[in-house]
This record gives sequence, structure tokens and C-alpha cells, in this order.
Amino acid sequence: MTDPAQLHQLSERYYLPVYRPHPIVLDRGQGSRVWDSAGREYVDFGAGIAVNALGHAHPALIAALTAQAAKLWHTSNVFVSEPPLKLAQALVDAAGFAEQVFFCNSGAEANEAAIKLARQWAAGQGRAPDRRVILTFRGGFHGRTLATVTATAQPKYQAGFEPLPGGFRYSDFNDLQAAEAAMAAGDVSAVLVEPVQGEGGVTPATDDFLHGLRTLCDRHGALLMLDEIQCGMGRTGTLLACDGYGVRPDVVTLAKALGAGFPIGAMLVGPAAAGGMGFGQHGSTFGGNPLAAAVALVALREIASPGVLANVARQAQALRAGLEDINRDLGVFGEIRGRGLMLGAQLRPESAGEASAILARCLEHGLLLLQAGPDVLRFVPALNIGDADVAEGLQRLRQALEAHVVATRSSLSDAALDTGN
Ligand SMILES: Cc1ncc(COP(=O)(O)O)c(C=O)c1O
Repeated sequence: MTDPAQLHQLSERYYLPVYRPHPIVLDRGQGSRVWDSAGREYVDFGAGIAVNALGHAHPALIAALTAQAAKLWHTSNVFVSEPPLKLAQALVDAAGFAEQVFFCNSGAEANEAAIKLARQWAAGQGRAPDRRVILTFRGGFHGRTLATVTATAQPKYQAGFEPLPGGFRYSDFNDLQAAEAAMAAGDVSAVLVEPVQGEGGVTPATDDFLHGLRTLCDRHGALLMLDEIQCGMGRTGTLLACDGYGVRPDVVTLAKALGAGFPIGAMLVGPAAAGGMGFGQHGSTFGGNPLAAAVALVALREIASPGVLANVARQAQALRAGLEDINRDLGVFGEIRGRGLMLGAQLRPESAGEASAILARCLEHGLLLLQAGPDVLRFVPALNIGDADVAEGLQRLRQALEAHVVATRSSLSDAALDTGN
């Protein structure tokens, strides 16, 4: 295996520098453990950013992928093949509200499809272009294409990409009155919202907010489109996060855990929006690729099984309790929030901006962890993670945080000495 330092040099030399990867090189995984190229083992609390829902090297997924690999890799949508059709049928059956499915390859593409569907649907109803506004929420994240980055109401993702596409309006998350005001003119044709904001800090919508958006959409004849790319597929303890809220959407977008590590995205469409797009109005060469679909079908069966969903509830409790224990001793977190196995630990104001330094400490202590912005640690482990992995990951987190506290306190006292205070 090539030396990790050399691989990082290659990455600096050949990659567009849009990422800043950690200094290790991951080599293999099994369940919720991963090993780097030097043979060091890590507990995985990040799951490839909420993707590896069934951990690494799940035997049923390997079997599905290799069986399909020996049969048929790709057809294009000029032909139908069995794996994506079976997956579409299984998703419609499992999702309850949906009638139709569009397959693509990523989250941004699923949201792009939803945005295009909303526009075509509104056009089909005879609404003028200036009455096809899509309402989204501050702190949300919907992807990196030009339309989805515009839907993402966060200036840091948009700066420099102007001119941005028009027809989007932003409102404050969890502020129903503000949403009501933003829709008052009757020109909003769709609302796009994450039931649990992920990248924006792991913030769940309140029950009132999500139910209220449904009511507002009904009142104004607008589509309620839920971005469940991060919070869907069992992550919050129900197959779709909206099931946990008891809210019926018109459109749901999925990706990440849908393929459990194999790239695939989907837009599920309910009766209100069915017929919103017709022949030739959208497409994707790779969308519904048989390899991806064969894996996703098995992933869906596993994720939707009572055993996995019960495990989400059980481990969510264990993880939350462990974080609260750590906090009782170290006092580093303000709020610990989230739903199911999508938890965020907000750092206290005195540790603001230190999430990435803490993640580096976690790596040193054998834990893969994520942040959601500079002030929030994000926990999105595999949905089938076991008791021992949760306990070990929490133990390593405690050690990493202890080391971080010692290092930051000693650098603070050094600074105090420097300034003579
Ligand atoms: C809620 C949400 N929507 C959309 C996306 C974009 O997905 P992708 O990176 O697959 O394009 C993400 C990715 O983090 C996400 O969390």
C-alpha cells in the first residue's frame, strides 16, 4: 500500500482543492469499525456522512452487489430492468404516501428533480413563472448544484456563485409565523424543508412547525417537499422522518443511506404532484442503475426491518445517555439534540469554533466523528451499530474531549502568562 503521506501529496496535486481530508487513509471496514492503512482501528460514528446505514461490508449487500455485477451493470433508461423496478415498487409500498419514483445518483440530483417537478407542476396548473416560488429555510442544506445551492439558504455556500437562479424565498426554520407571512402573497408553489436539519447543526423541526407547513401548503395549493436525504431511511427511528412526525408529504427526496454506500438518489412523488412531469422533461443516464438498485433494495429491506428500527431507538438512548454522562463530567456541551441516531452536541460558547479541533483529537483516540458547522459535533453512526461499539466510541470520545480540554486550558493559561494576567 502506498505511503499515506504520498497519497495525501497526490490528493493535493491532482484534486480540485474543494475538500480538506483528514491526514489518515482509510483502508477497510467491518460493521462499525474501520482500519486505516497503518492498521489502526477506529469506531465509526460518522458512517460516511450518514451513508453506511448498515455499517461496512454487510454480507447481504455484498451478495446483492456481486450477484448483480455478474448479470447486468447498466442499461440506461431507454430500457427497463428488474432491480430498479423492484426498488421503486418497494419504496412506494414502504413510504405509504408515494405513487411514483424518479431515480438519480445523489442527494443534490434528487432535490434538483424536486425543484424541477415543482416548477413543471405549477406551470401545468397555469401559474405564471413569478408565482412558482419555492420556499426554503435558513440553516437548511439541499446540495451543491446551482439550483440546490440556491435552495440552501446559507450565504457561505452561495458566495461567488451569483447570479443564482431566481424563484426562491427564505424563511426562518421553526418559525411558523414567518413561513405564513412568506406564503401570504399566494405565489409559493412548493415548500422544501428538512424535517431534521443536518449540515445546519442537527436541528429537528418542531411538531408544530412541520404540521403547520402542511396546513399552509394545503391552504395555498403548494407542494410540501421533504428533503430526507440525511434524516430519512430509518435514521430517526422510522423509515421516513415524516412518519415520526405524522406528516404526509407530497414529495420526499432520498439519497445517502438509500444505497447504504452505493451511490443512488430518489425522489418519491405522492398523488398531488403525480403527473407533474411528463415524457422528456427530466432524466439521468445513470439514474436507476441496476447495480445501485440491487443493493438499495436489500438495504431497504434491512433498514425497514423491525430489528434495525428497534436498534435505532435503543442505541439512540444509549448514545444520548453517554453524551450526557460525559457532559456531567466535562461540561463541554450546551444542548444535546436530534432524533434517533441523528444527534448533535452543541459546544458551549467558550468552546465555540472548536469542533474541527475536537474531531482531530477523536481521530487520535480511534474515533471517526463529524461536525455540523464549527460548533456542533454530529453523531450519525450505522443504524445497526451494536452495544459494544457505542460504548467503545463513547469511551474514546470521552478521552478525546479530556485531551482537548487539557490542551485548550493549558494554551489559555500560557496566553494568560504571556499577557502577564
Ligand atoms: C439534507 C441534505 N440534502 C441534500 C444533500 C446533498 O446530497 P449529495 O451530497 O449526495 O448531493 C445533503 C448532503 O449532505 C443533505 O444532507
